[in-house]
Amino acid sequence: MLELLSSKEYRSGESLAAKLGVSRVAIWRQIERLKKTGVDIISVSGQGYKIQAEFEMLDAVEIYKNLANAGGINRSSIQVSKVVDSTNAVLMRLPPTREQKVVFSEYQTAGRGRREDVWVSPPGGGIWFSLSRCFDNPPSSFSALGLVVGISVISGLQKLGINGLQLKWPNDVVFEGAKLAGILIELRSEVSGPCFAVIGIGLNTNLGMFVRRKIDKKVIDISELSSRHLSRNLVASALLSSLDEHLNAFEHSGFQSFRESWRKFDFLFGKELKILCGSKVEVGRAEGVDDIGALQLRQAGEIKQILSGHIIELV
Ligand code: BTN
Repeated sequence: MLELLSSKEYRSGESLAAKLGVSRVAIWRQIERLKKTGVDIISVSGQGYKIQAEFEMLDAVEIYKNLANAGGINRSSIQVSKVVDSTNAVLMRLPPTREQKVVFSEYQTAGRGRREDVWVSPPGGGIWFSLSRCFDNPPSSFSALGLVVGISVISGLQKLGINGLQLKWPNDVVFEGAKLAGILIELRSEVSGPCFAVIGIGLNTNLGMFVRRKIDKKVIDISELSSRHLSRNLVASALLSSLDEHLNAFEHSGFQSFRESWRKFDFLFGKELKILCGSKVEVGRAEGVDDIGALQLRQAGEIKQILSGHIIELV
């Protein structure tokens, strides 16, 4: 249905119904369903339907074509779906394998965020994808994986001319504090030996008004940050290439070599924070991260190491 709509002209209910071989009422129902998923559609009686902003559908061949140096990713390991519950959930359900797998989806009905939040993932509103990877020899700083993924997102987008991005510990990608992308890592590991990780990235590319009203924080998307139109498939390739490159370096040398990049992109550095750690609230000033990616919080002259937590307020 979405592929039949245009942002340039109205398509009448009658013509859509004829193309799909269904009734006009069925078209109207589908339009209402699409609107509920977050696609902004304008309906004008007597003229038909038009989408507010057209988007290019994701395509595995296009994504693979533009992958630069992502040696560990085969064409057959990239799957593009129209709709799944969550790309992370899809990969977590598969038996762990050594081969990297990547799942993109135009729409997630149950996108997962950190701390069991819902990740709103409307069709065409962003690039929602997950990569599964088996780390045979996880580095001792493996807890910094999410930070490295955040650095890879910024670096991939910089290559497309998007600058000024920062990282808000542990791994939100922000522009002037507004969230552009989120990262969710789910692990399946034994006490020792290989570690199987599913790395999920949600990058906003074109959030409509309907969706923005549903999100209770400041958000931003690629269309606001790029001076030129960027192909979604090109952005997807850039993210994937960069991710592969950064994960290889991380597996080989750990977080140490990324600390300098983190310092450059650190949105919280020097800010007074309130952080929820379990049920306890910690207050202090952020002073970067240590060599395992833990936040260093200065409290009354001492540094407290925060391994995980949620920033509730910038004091
Ligand atoms: C967050 O900031 O809360 C993390 C958001 C992660 C969202 C992405 S979208 C692709 C992948 N699939 C999911 O269900 N979640 C991640």
